[in-house]
Amino acid sequence: MRIDIISVVPKLIEGFFAHSIMKRGIDAGHVEVVLHDLRDYSLNKHRQVDDYAFGGGAGMVMTIEPIARCIRQLQSERHYDEVIYMTPDGETFNQRTANDLSLAGNLIFLCGHYKGVDQRVRDLFVTKEISIGDFVLSGGELAAAVCADAIIRLVPGVLNDETSALTDSFQDNLLAPPVYTRPADFEGAKVPEILLSGHESKITEWRFEQSLARTKERRPDLLKNSSF
Ligand code: ADE
Repeated sequence: MRIDIISVVPKLIEGFFAHSIMKRGIDAGHVEVVLHDLRDYSLNKHRQVDDYAFGGGAGMVMTIEPIARCIRQLQSERHYDEVIYMTPDGETFNQRTANDLSLAGNLIFLCGHYKGVDQRVRDLFVTKEISIGDFVLSGGELAAAVCADAIIRLVPGVLNDETSALTDSFQDNLLAPPVYTRPADFEGAKVPEILLSGHESKITEWRFEQSLARTKERRPDLLKNSSF
């Protein structure tokens, strides 16, 4: 999978992909992440990528030309499954979207800034609009990094133990069960006996029950359309 991220401040998230699971996935060749500085696509001598809004009002709007140039350049080199615009008025990102997008070959993430992009960018180039929640960030970069993280860790081979993504919260509309490690007894706070028993099927059953109880208590909305 290849992910191209278009931004006016790519440095903001450069370090994010240089560590931990993201780095491992990239180094192992499972995924390629390419950051593009939108200013490199501006023909303006000041490398300007924004302008005043027609009709007035506070805040600058990102102009269409540099964005069009960047997206067209990328699309001339390979096919992209989606051109995703990160925006608070997009569809809310969730594990299902992460699963779907992890099957893609190539993705473009366009990060908004200021008052956002000229509407014609959305009309002409964007195929999907994603929000990471009902709050407004100063730019789409962190949102793009959040989505890229959730997607990349699902790409086969990125996680050490393939099954660990399958037991994540949300993967089957259930929150993950509690986990424990050594010591088995911390100042009297003990690990549940069942986890020390070595009885695999009983442990699986216990984890499922814990998941279900936790989901009922914290996120009953997740259970509405499930068979549990
Ligand atoms: N850009 C600014 N706020 C955002 C949000 N909540 N989700 C995605 N992109 C954004």
